[in-house]
Amino acid sequence: MKLNKNYSKLEENYLFTEIALRTKKFIDANPQKPLIKLGIGDVTLPLPALVADAIINAFEELKHAETFRGYGPELGYGFAKNAVAQYYKSYGVELQLDEITVGDGIGSDIANITDLFEKGANTVLVPDPVYPLYKATSLMDNQKIEYIACTAENDFLPSPPNFPSDMIYLCSPNNPTGASFNFEQLKRWVDYANSCGAVILYDNAYERFIEESDKPHSIFQIEGAKTCAIEFGSLSKTAGFTCVRAGYTVVPFELKSDGVPLNRMWQQRQTTKYNGAPYPQQRGVVAALSKEGLAAADKNIAEYKKNSTLITNVLKEKNIFYSGGTNSPYIWFKCPNNMGSWEFFDFLLNEVYVVGTPGVGFGANGENYFRLTTFNTYENTKEAMERIRGIL
Ligand code: MLT
Repeated sequence: MKLNKNYSKLEENYLFTEIALRTKKFIDANPQKPLIKLGIGDVTLPLPALVADAIINAFEELKHAETFRGYGPELGYGFAKNAVAQYYKSYGVELQLDEITVGDGIGSDIANITDLFEKGANTVLVPDPVYPLYKATSLMDNQKIEYIACTAENDFLPSPPNFPSDMIYLCSPNNPTGASFNFEQLKRWVDYANSCGAVILYDNAYERFIEESDKPHSIFQIEGAKTCAIEFGSLSKTAGFTCVRAGYTVVPFELKSDGVPLNRMWQQRQTTKYNGAPYPQQRGVVAALSKEGLAAADKNIAEYKKNSTLITNVLKEKNIFYSGGTNSPYIWFKCPNNMGSWEFFDFLLNEVYVVGTPGVGFGANGENYFRLTTFNTYENTKEAMERIRGIL
């Protein structure tokens, strides 16, 4: 057999796997230490009751012959796609149902969509720092990566480069920096992509956290985006679906390369390699995107934002430069005393038993930075920040 040798270009462990391994090692050696995890962005508030009930009721249907279902449509049930379309409509974006697919979350879809692009033949723009999946999948596919710097100097919001590319990963509100493009900044990316025939793979996982009215909730709010963008949405961080798993992907009909519609290719890909998101999850999607479901999500987000305040208050008090927290669930800050990211990770873990995420794990420009998530409980975040205050 001939293996994909590109895997040798990957880090020894994926960032969150590495953190989990180091955390486990610490717990094994220090079982009595009261550890608090502010590392991976995993939610702690339970599912809204109406969402859980929708999922439970769907399983109940499967228990009875009259309501039992077998295979579902690979691209998503009409009722779930309709719920997504209505959600987009609330932001003024009109979508046709067949432009939407329902899957098990952004992680899979944003990795699986790369099947549409010839391996080893595309120049890919990857922000640095950014969610590590984009770089990893580009490496696996032997694409040529051009990193685009996201630094304090550009408020972590890069502009398009002065050279052409084929694929562009954008994540706004950004993981890890929390920075969000405004309409004008995103329009520049859309114009750039249309001018060079590139596709923007737009990770929109955190849009529901946006507070500021000058920030778009979908790239499709930008004129021209339907000819150059694919958008990925998730219920993980809003409805608490990190365990349940459900998300959606929008591939507009107008998006074509040399006359070939990407929507058709994505449908071919999904109907061939995927059996569709589970029926109960898709009932959960409908409940989560209903008026009551969204109100419950917003309530949870408001709870997580209290944690933002706990974290940023300490950073302000200690005069530490940070970004994020307003339109996103992440706080991105400079490590004190110019410590390296992993050095600060070890320091926090060993001194105050708090796990965070080293900035350099998101890219070379993340060195000397650190990320804390606001997704733990209020009590744990408060306790963690009191401990951190004591050592800064
Ligand atoms: C993160 O912590 O950056 C992500 O939320 C983890 C994930 O969604 O895979």
